[in-house]
Amino acid sequence: MDSIRIQGGVALQGKVRIQGSKNAALPILAATLLTGESSLIKNCPRIADVYAMVSLLKGIGCTVNWQENGLCIDASSVNCEELGAEAVTCMRSSLCLLGALIGRCGRISMEHPGGCVIGQRPIDLHIGALRQMGVEFREEEGRLMAEADKLCGAHISLPFPSVGATENVVLAAVLAEGETVLEGAALEPEITALCQYLKNCGAEIEGVGTGRLVIRGGRRLYGTDFPVPADRIVAGTYLFGCIGAGGSVFLEDAPWEEMGAVLELAERMGGRLCISKEGIYVQAPGRPRAVECIETAPYPGFPTDLQSMALAVAALADGESRIKETIFENRFRVVEELRRMGAQIEEQDGSMVLVHGVKSLHGASVEARELRGGAALVVAGLMAQGETTVTGCKFIYRGYENICRDFRELGARVTSA
Ligand code: UD1
Repeated sequence: MDSIRIQGGVALQGKVRIQGSKNAALPILAATLLTGESSLIKNCPRIADVYAMVSLLKGIGCTVNWQENGLCIDASSVNCEELGAEAVTCMRSSLCLLGALIGRCGRISMEHPGGCVIGQRPIDLHIGALRQMGVEFREEEGRLMAEADKLCGAHISLPFPSVGATENVVLAAVLAEGETVLEGAALEPEITALCQYLKNCGAEIEGVGTGRLVIRGGRRLYGTDFPVPADRIVAGTYLFGCIGAGGSVFLEDAPWEEMGAVLELAERMGGRLCISKEGIYVQAPGRPRAVECIETAPYPGFPTDLQSMALAVAALADGESRIKETIFENRFRVVEELRRMGAQIEEQDGSMVLVHGVKSLHGASVEARELRGGAALVVAGLMAQGETTVTGCKFIYRGYENICRDFRELGARVTSA
């Protein structure tokens, strides 16, 4: 099941329900460790990254079971602080176990975390912040070891609103002694979901949704049921799929409140949107419109995770578009593959591309090299005339439950093989 075949050129039509969010689910699963009790995480997406997290949690002693409506994690007996190497190196989000396990056990030993090959992805901000809370780090035979005799609240200021570093500070701070003030915290909705889960467990966190979080640590936390919010990146992927391929679709449960910058771009590219509390209805009447400049930015800016999809759509637009990537340096690996489909894209420097929209793309054999770039190739396949085969789809399954089924529900001719 490593490749996806698409017969493109068919306008999309119909309704698809948006799955639970990968980037919200993973830190919440890590956070269940802090309770020492059972939590039922509802609407948890069935994706490869969640399976990797489940294997890490089982490896340290949790009992984890899928139920009809979610994932039940019993964290009453965590008996090991060493994380299995394989799951850690294939998934960047394993990094949130750093804060969670230090909070729970006071120590952790793990490989350097992996994830998509979209840049250097250093972890200095995580380490610097946790050091301020009394954590000592050392490296032994390539493994990262962290230990805290006593985890203490601290006044921390992040020089960049790193999503992962914010999550780690929150996770460590809820069981630390005293108060943690985190300035420059990331504003991403996935942080809000994590804080909300922890608050429902009994944690005291103020300033949720702002760049200044105040966490009063040391409270006893209880297990709880919690629903994972819908995935704004998956919703955005299908939204751009419709704008690129044309048609009209309803994205049921799409979290439109969190998608301001995405919806704005979708409209500028020619989408007609109608928002209701049930989701987003999008109509794409013709060829997409070019946009002068698309620039990624931390939330509430345009998300780096949807840059490749916007790029695919711009490839077919009626003019020139510029796309600037400001978060990760390797996010243009998809360019070479889009060129195989007839796209005309000039790389101006490592962080900017100039897209000369063409009238039509043609099907080709292309390779997914990372999660979001891979999904963008499926979108491009829908937009192209003829057959496209995307290989390397294991990356796509890290974040999309069933991208083939979802696009098929929208009338596309997509199969996995
Ligand atoms: C990032 C995205 C997030 C997305 C996730 C998954 C942003 C701001 N963050 O989160 O929306 O859901 O990828 O694809 O768009 N950095 C450092 N040192 C660190 C940590 C980060 O220099 O210790 C740099 C990174 O190299 C990168 C930037 O900060 O340039 C963003 O990092 P961060 O927000 O931490 O990334 P993720 O948590 O992986």
